[in-house]
Amino acid sequence: MSVSRRHFVSALGLGGAGLVSPPLFGHRGHEARLVEWLNAPPAPSALIRLDSNENPNGPGAKAFEAIRAMFGEANRYPDDPERALVAAIAREHGVSEDNVILGCGSSEILRMCVERFVNTAQHLVTAGPTFELPANFAQTMGRPVVTVPVDAKLRLDLAVMGDKAGGAGLIFFCHPKNPTATVHGDAAVREFVARVRRDSPATYILIDEAYHEYVDEPSYKTAIPMALADPNVIVSRTFSKVFGMAGLRAGYAIVHRETARKLQGWRLGSGINVLAAAAAIASIGDHEHIALEQKRNRDAKAFTRAFFEKAGYEVGASDTNFLMIDLKKDMRPVRDACRKEGIAVGRPFPPLLTQLRISIGTMEEMVKATDVLKRVLA
Ligand SMILES: Cc1ncc(COP(=O)(O)O)c(C=O)c1O
Repeated sequence: MSVSRRHFVSALGLGGAGLVSPPLFGHRGHEARLVEWLNAPPAPSALIRLDSNENPNGPGAKAFEAIRAMFGEANRYPDDPERALVAAIAREHGVSEDNVILGCGSSEILRMCVERFVNTAQHLVTAGPTFELPANFAQTMGRPVVTVPVDAKLRLDLAVMGDKAGGAGLIFFCHPKNPTATVHGDAAVREFVARVRRDSPATYILIDEAYHEYVDEPSYKTAIPMALADPNVIVSRTFSKVFGMAGLRAGYAIVHRETARKLQGWRLGSGINVLAAAAAIASIGDHEHIALEQKRNRDAKAFTRAFFEKAGYEVGASDTNFLMIDLKKDMRPVRDACRKEGIAVGRPFPPLLTQLRISIGTMEEMVKATDVLKRVLA
């Protein structure tokens, strides 16, 4: 049984084998499901999952207590827990409840924005590569997508994205950026937003801050103040990363009231289940636990970076819970060889096919993973 599964089972007080069956834990996260994983070699049972930027430690103790206490409400629709979660998010960010929109994971926020703001006449601007979901949604809906390649430092190319913004319905601004783990300073983000607002006033800018809590770069700032002041700026956040709740599905957006009114109708009603709502409420203000998760990530990331750098590889700057490593050769055979040895690493991100994305697991997992990688890369 994996560390995280053991933790989850014991934290819930479910020791009995039949209560939490293995197949439940065999399903992969949202990210991995997006891609060719059906074609990947079969997963060994003790797979170490470093492929979907999940938090290997799972939710904190307070979240588990809240989940346990909520079991008795499982027969009720989540109206009250959703209201309580909106209040907790508003309190945490010092905003009004009218500025908060819940999503079934931040993925739902991304989908809502594409549905509402991208149409056949107003395209989506995204990066290549970036988190694929908004572009995938737009393509599924038959709506135009303009993809701007990343710059030489694998960051969003803000100059070209600005050039392509004219007449766009939505710009997807992944910040920190998945998969390249990069951020921009606050001044550059503000300048970009100001340019888009001036040149293309009807365009919305979705700033996806899924990895916000992992940022160390001092010039980075959240865009929440911009979203409160400007109806065309939307900030999305998630409980899937530092809060360790990817399987529970809870995310949200902070938006101007005017924009909240435009988006609310596109929500899946009752999209947050009662257990996720309870866990999220217990987690969002648990700063001690967040600090612990940040430290665990920082330590295991430093260990992993040192391994690759010592072996002579170039590792990009990372303000997230994953690293991008330039293997200087096609990463796909390496990915397949790792998987055969029980390590799942990131998918290919064309056109960056020499770059391997590796999510940061526990220190124990990273020790095992780097051992395997040493052999595979030799
Ligand atoms: C940048 C980014 N945004 C959003 C998501 C989706 O997260 P959620 O679990 O909140 O739907 C991910 C998932 O990996 C991500 O990397």
